[in-house]
Amino acid sequence: MNVDKGYVDAPIDKSLNLKEEILKLKKEKNAVILAHYYQNGEIQDMADYIGDSLALAQIATKIEAPIIILCGVHFMGETAKVLCPDKKVLIPDMSAGCSLADSCPADEFEKLINDHPGHTIISYVNTSASVKALTDIVVTSSNARQIVESLPADKKIIFGPDRNLGNYINSITGRQMLLWDGACHVHEQFSVSKIVELKKEYPDAQVLVHPECKKVVVMLADKVGSTAALLNHAVNSECDTFIVATESGILHEMRKKCPDKTFIPAPPETGSCACNDCNYMKLNTLEKLYKCLKYEQPEVMVEKELSQKAIKPIKRMLEISEKLGL
Ligand code: 13P
Ligand code: SF4
Repeated sequence: MNVDKGYVDAPIDKSLNLKEEILKLKKEKNAVILAHYYQNGEIQDMADYIGDSLALAQIATKIEAPIIILCGVHFMGETAKVLCPDKKVLIPDMSAGCSLADSCPADEFEKLINDHPGHTIISYVNTSASVKALTDIVVTSSNARQIVESLPADKKIIFGPDRNLGNYINSITGRQMLLWDGACHVHEQFSVSKIVELKKEYPDAQVLVHPECKKVVVMLADKVGSTAALLNHAVNSECDTFIVATESGILHEMRKKCPDKTFIPAPPETGSCACNDCNYMKLNTLEKLYKCLKYEQPEVMVEKELSQKAIKPIKRMLEISEKLGL
């Protein structure tokens, strides 16, 4: 089957009801679909589990089915494959990358580590398996603060690759982690002036901000947190209107969980679009998911030796998170 384009390049019978076919194939093949909150709503609706990066890694370790379809970006599929080397891990479009992961090539990160001996290496989960293999502990935006705080206060730390998350953790923990200078092209784009305008229009709205955003945006926040933390906040808050500064896919689950509340996507700086989409996350479509299930392609592969190195810091993250009840 041709997957040169990153996804199965085969025609689809236009008369098929793709949603029904996906559910049928999923059952037939005993496959489990995991989807990140940034996926298109119709993909999230097909999933057995939806979650943030931490939840998807935690769920992957508990799956017994032989096939996992990770609807998200490549590093998420890779993390699932590292955690479940004996399973077939599929991703609807293999070219769904991540600008943040790309901002940290392993050889350059290794040079930074070698130039600064004696540091504990913490990497955000948005990294390649090669960067994880150089890392002591992986974190996500759900547990970065607690994992950093679990280390002795005088521990010297290198944190990569997200400078915005790193700066945020430094500011709330008082640590002075040495930061890799990387960023996510989506979260860097939110416009302070457009959020301020929205606040004028909706003065009672709370501003929900992902910590991958720039400091000037974080400063406007009523709540800073991972996608799951922002969702939980919206569910539990007495407030009924929210301006949401993270990738717009999360609004699907927010609206499903809180049908009576209003969610307004925070706009990016440039362009006329009212919301901010990750072009990588949105490469996955219902059609590609259907073909991925049908042909069991494209499959995420991680070389054994690399996988054995990359699993250690991921497991460490999962162990610490479990201990901390995260
Ligand atoms: P979380 O899922 O940890 O909130 O991270 C967001 C993200 O950018 C994933 O790519
Ligand atoms: Fe990567 Fe940013 Fe897209 Fe998340 S939103 S997958 S960090 S590019």
